[in-house]
Amino acid sequence: MADEYAHRPVTVAGKTAVVIGGTSGIGEAIALSFASEGADVVATSRTEEKVAATAERLRELGAATIEATTDVTSRASIDGTRDRVIEEFGSVDVLVTSASAVARTAVDETTEEEWRHVLDVQLTGVYRATQSFAAVMDEGSIVHVSSLAPQLAIANLSTYTAAKGGVDAYTRAAAKELAPEIRVNAIAPGYVVTPQNVDLIGEGTEARERIRRRCPMGDVADRSEIAGAAVYLASDAASYTTGEVVTVDGLFGRSVF
Ligand SMILES: NC(=O)c1ccc[n+]([C@@H]2O[C@H](COP(=O)([O-])OP(=O)(O)OC[C@H]3O[C@@H](n4cnc5c(N)ncnc54)[C@H](OP(=O)(O)O)[C@@H]3O)[C@@H](O)[C@H]2O)c1
Repeated sequence: MADEYAHRPVTVAGKTAVVIGGTSGIGEAIALSFASEGADVVATSRTEEKVAATAERLRELGAATIEATTDVTSRASIDGTRDRVIEEFGSVDVLVTSASAVARTAVDETTEEEWRHVLDVQLTGVYRATQSFAAVMDEGSIVHVSSLAPQLAIANLSTYTAAKGGVDAYTRAAAKELAPEIRVNAIAPGYVVTPQNVDLIGEGTEARERIRRRCPMGDVADRSEIAGAAVYLASDAASYTTGEVVTVDGLFGRSVF
């Protein structure tokens, strides 16, 4: 009787996951969280030292892993990592993309170079990684780390906002094509303190005080609170969830007063 109502497990235990942009900030938290649940995890980015350091932490948590660098601006680089993962593990169940590039520039000052770079990493990187890994995933889950930004109007962030709006739209469209075997979702985090924004919203900054005043949940998110959403989306419990952008912002984005 109980089985009829039992949901599938909210865990990634036993799965093989690749986290691109998984050596820092949100991506690293997701990689470590997956490993602590019993997944095998490859956390990758451009920098060898960061890859090695995260791999060490993954091993300490009991995960099998390999050390591979990846640059999402290169299709050959992504394919190379994918092939090494397949060689080592035989299959991939979960892909997470969390590579970061930001331009904090006004509309009339943004250069074509800045525009191209942010879109190359944030949007075209998502396309490249999705295409590359979907080709070898018989079934599984893809989770893109998007942002709250495309749901808002933030000054001096138009390039990033456009890229992330593209990620949300691409997530829905790709989900339609890749269903039912592969689910594609995105997470839209609000503010999380990471190396790329610690100067802006770290402890003691004026912006951090403003976030504390405005956010109904009282502060920025801890990285682990974004990882929780990734675990759910990657797990079998989310077996009917696809094409979704899951906002994890402590209600910051929709809170007016
Ligand atoms: N922090 C926030 O408040 C926040 C809010 C909403 C959304 N996000 C999004 O969350 C994601 C992660 O951001 P974060 O704050 O965690 O940033 P982070 O701590 O700076 O981490 C970024 C990661 O991306 C990797 N990376 C950068 N360029 C890359 C490339 N070309 N190819 C592969 N990997 C690359 C970095 O490693 P290497 O330097 O070694 O490549 C690093 O592992 C980003 O997509 C960001 O837009 C962040």
